[in-house]
Amino acid sequence: MAFDPGLAAVDFTILRSQAREEELHYLDNAAMALIPDCVINAMVEHDTLRRSNVKRGSHRLAEEATEAFEKARAAVADYLGVSDPDEVVFTGGATAGINILAHSLGLMFERNDEVLISQLEHHSNIIPWQVIQQRQGIKVRYLPVTPDGRINLERAEDMIKSRTRIVSVTHGSNVTGAITDARTLSGLVHDRGAFLILDGAQTAPGGPMDLPALGADFYVFSGHKVYGPTGVGILWGRKEILKNMPPALGGGEMIQDVGLEKSTFLDPPHRFEAGTPPVTQAIGLAAAVKWLAAKDVKGMRGHLRRLTLRIMEGLTQLSGGIKILGPETGMERIPLVSFCVEGLHPHDICQVMNDRHGVALRGGFHCAQPLHDFLKIDGTTRASLAIYNNDNDVDALLNGMEDCMKILG
Ligand SMILES: Cc1ncc(COP(=O)(O)O)c(C=O)c1O
Repeated sequence: MAFDPGLAAVDFTILRSQAREEELHYLDNAAMALIPDCVINAMVEHDTLRRSNVKRGSHRLAEEATEAFEKARAAVADYLGVSDPDEVVFTGGATAGINILAHSLGLMFERNDEVLISQLEHHSNIIPWQVIQQRQGIKVRYLPVTPDGRINLERAEDMIKSRTRIVSVTHGSNVTGAITDARTLSGLVHDRGAFLILDGAQTAPGGPMDLPALGADFYVFSGHKVYGPTGVGILWGRKEILKNMPPALGGGEMIQDVGLEKSTFLDPPHRFEAGTPPVTQAIGLAAAVKWLAAKDVKGMRGHLRRLTLRIMEGLTQLSGGIKILGPETGMERIPLVSFCVEGLHPHDICQVMNDRHGVALRGGFHCAQPLHDFLKIDGTTRASLAIYNNDNDVDALLNGMEDCMKILG
């Protein structure tokens, strides 16, 4: 039976037609997915009945909150296909996860060590390494991008050197939609004794996974892109590596023993959860991944692939010179399409699409300015899909773009 996105859409108050006056075709899911009612309810229920700080108090409420928090960790581990929940660290989001890694691993670097990232990274996977570069005199180098917007893995073999400590790349590009062949890269990285970090911000929404099979050492993502709340994310790391890493942030219940001269720290994951963690959001994130896992994920993937193709083919057929970024139709990509229209600025396109057609798009650099510089383009317009999007949304996008090009062209 064909996948029915309506069966997911009913779970979202914001998508039920009576909730809003104007038409809404929400195609900005790569920035933030909408949140189902059951996730909001799980957080309300927690804060209404079990609100208390975790890992601190010994009263009943504190114990219940701690148990709920640790159950949320186990639910995320299940979603990732990881057998040990202690490999799952709650963070503030993908950006926070990469910063924790950069600052912790950075303490283990020596001058002239190298970190290899790529030209198509989100700023969240560039800036933290540049900060460490300035502070410690390491080198940040960049894997080049192919003309069709993929990380050029053929160059990886000669660019990963004996001084390379970390290779940190996106698992799915938020601009070109290209998916990185993590398995191949992980072989090259491990042959040189380095660690592989995958930025999974755009691949985590694809449904339950077998993370260890990707061969990475670390993986980060954000809650709000997997139908969860803002302010929470995950850093997953292999335990044997995490346990030898120093904390990046200090304070709260990450300690074992505190002295005036020296302190010792708990084992992971708590070592990396300084201060009060995002308890309610963690419970929301667990509800979100459980909600997603209970859907027809295989059907969803096929459905999103079909809609992505429809967008690519539909835009190509519009007259007026639309250039689509990223891998060609037929190649694997995440469900988003970024494009440029000759002579039109993405911000103007987004404005017209919003005001006249109720289509929510994102325009600009998408926090990936170096990629746009490399491609010599002054921004792109991006349509990104999620489980509730349907053919009407794609029709609205394609008809709207036709109108937009007439008005602005
Ligand atoms: C590929 C990628 N990495 C990192 C991030 C940063 O995520 P956050 O702002 O949730 O920390 C994003 C957000 O759009 C992204 O798309």
